[in-house]
Amino acid sequence: MKIDILTIFPEMFDGFVNSSIIKRAINDNKVQINVHNFRDYSTDPHKCVDDYAFGGGQGMVLMPQPIFDAVEDIKTKDTKVILLTPQGKKYNQKMAYDLAKEKSLMFICGHYEGFDERIRTLADEELSIGDYVLTGGELPSMVITDSVVRLLPGVINEESHKKESFNNDLLDYPVYTRPADFRGLKVPEVLLSGHHANIEKYRREESLKRTKERRPDLLEKS
Ligand code: ADE
Repeated sequence: MKIDILTIFPEMFDGFVNSSIIKRAINDNKVQINVHNFRDYSTDPHKCVDDYAFGGGQGMVLMPQPIFDAVEDIKTKDTKVILLTPQGKKYNQKMAYDLAKEKSLMFICGHYEGFDERIRTLADEELSIGDYVLTGGELPSMVITDSVVRLLPGVINEESHKKESFNNDLLDYPVYTRPADFRGLKVPEVLLSGHHANIEKYRREESLKRTKERRPDLLEKS
């Protein structure tokens, strides 16, 4: 998969692409992540990317020219273009699975007070990562990229995402490691028993109990 990210803060992605599983996925050629500074596409003599809003109002608005030129230069026929905005559809795990099937994704990160409305015409989809307002689309693009890249074949052990939270509309069961007794806090006996059927049953029950307590909305859905 190829992922192109359009931003005016490319340095925000340095840690992201150089750490942990994302770094390994890049090194193993499972994904190619290109971070582009769309300021480089500005035809303004001062490389300006924003201006005041027509009609007045607070703050600066991203101009269409640099973003249109960047998208037209970088996009291929296979690219799905995603605009990050709190006005977008709310992102979830099902969408992560759908995006993981694409060949090429492009994220447009808005910034400042907003972007010129005409930029919306470039996007195949508008996504939000939740009902709160961030300073820009950079963190949302990292959140979505992270959730997609870990689903690409061979990036992590596939067994581990078959069983994880949200896959069956259930939250994960609790897990423990050594020691069996930490400051008097004991690991449930059944997990030490070696009895696989009982362990499975315990985990299923804990998953259900946890979902009922913390996310009853998920149970209603299934
Ligand atoms: N840009 C600012 N806030 C955002 C959010 N919650 N989701 C996506 N893009 C955003």
